[in-house]
Amino acid sequence: MHHTDIPRFEEIKGESNKLKLPEILEPDFERENEVSYTLKTQRGETQLKEGRKTATMGYNGSYLGPILKMRKGQTVHIKTENNLSEETTFHWHGLKIPSDVDGGPHSPVEPNQTAQIDFEVNQEAATLWFHPHALGTTAEQVYYGLAGLIYVEDEQTDRLDLPKEYGVNDFPLILQDRNLDENNQLDYERSYNPDGVYGNTLLVNGTLNPYVEVKNEKVRLRLVNGSNARNYQLALNNQARFYQIASDGGFLEEPVEMTSLVLAPGERAEIIIDLEDYPEGETIQLMDGETTVLDIGVKGTTDVKKELPRKLNTIPVRETSDSLPVKKMTLAGMGYMVSIDGKQFDMNRIDMEETQGETAIWEIYNAPDMMGGMAHPFHVHGLQFKIISRDGKTPPLNEQGWKDTVLIEAGETVQLELEFPEKGIFMYHCHILEHEDVGMMGQVEVK
Ligand code: C2O
Ligand code: CU
Ligand code: CU
Repeated sequence: MHHTDIPRFEEIKGESNKLKLPEILEPDFERENEVSYTLKTQRGETQLKEGRKTATMGYNGSYLGPILKMRKGQTVHIKTENNLSEETTFHWHGLKIPSDVDGGPHSPVEPNQTAQIDFEVNQEAATLWFHPHALGTTAEQVYYGLAGLIYVEDEQTDRLDLPKEYGVNDFPLILQDRNLDENNQLDYERSYNPDGVYGNTLLVNGTLNPYVEVKNEKVRLRLVNGSNARNYQLALNNQARFYQIASDGGFLEEPVEMTSLVLAPGERAEIIIDLEDYPEGETIQLMDGETTVLDIGVKGTTDVKKELPRKLNTIPVRETSDSLPVKKMTLAGMGYMVSIDGKQFDMNRIDMEETQGETAIWEIYNAPDMMGGMAHPFHVHGLQFKIISRDGKTPPLNEQGWKDTVLIEAGETVQLELEFPEKGIFMYHCHILEHEDVGMMGQVEVK
């Protein structure tokens, strides 16, 4: 969909709701190096807006899902159960795990079936997420509410003096746009557009017009773009600076000072808003253009002032990538015609080959069309990559950390440095979920 056609948010006045917080899922059991969870898809009804409840889908609840906490080095067991009347999969977006547990379209769980997932967490602290990835129905299932968060924690999490009190100064914000009809129902078919379903109503963790109350301290927001297609351009209403501390796959080297942040579908960013100098009663808004995303009220004071850690992480830099072959890929088309290298997804075709543990360079070109083309958020399963360049230039500081999704503008060429830690067949695709379902997806076999 061309930029000018993207529907704006309608303001829904007179309703202001306390931000809903996903529960942190209680493990079935947990030891130091092992944790076990049960995750169930189900249908339900959710009060999204005043009036009638909305028919929705969720994990272990009626809409969205709980947070799965896991630690680096732990073995994780997840018993997945599908209580829908259609097939689904459980995909762990951003986890560096083998392809047989990655939950791509190869691993459907049929209605009333269970599947046992076991893997080891071999990566650093990060905010990841999970969602369905069934062939052709990913977008619809996500739209009705199937998505949840994963918090990976490690020694860095323990050591860094960052806000980490859940729901006090550390909040997840799952951004999603939805169309609620006159009966408060979501009607995917009616909202369907092959270039992405955009909604006129913004929900944050399933909350309409959300607010939080915090103390005058530093507040951490873990932003997750869980929308089917919409990009957000986030800023504070008073243009105050904030600091990005983490990208998709973990902490950045240093906090990056910014005044606005673009977040494409699939991407995550953790930011710190500094409210230390705000008086009691003050409010500040996180905005997406003209739309308020979150209303933050200062209530209660504290004298504790904290400096942000200067150094958050060490991201290894390769000496040079000159000697590596550059593998080129082209994204093209719109609507039902979207393609990667002129092809649409075929589960029986391998599109790329890589070697486990070896660095590869992918160069992805987003070919514009006569109308200008559109931006695509490009996502790769099974790893965290690094963005080497955008049109030959070093990416901005906040894109120099670990990423698994990168927004590529029409006409732009992006180079990625990737290394698959596991063997198997992994997906790469546009994270506009309607594009993915139509077939803007390929498979890389890692040997
Ligand atoms: Cu978040 Cu293949 O997706
Ligand atoms: Cu993924
Ligand atoms: Cu796309």
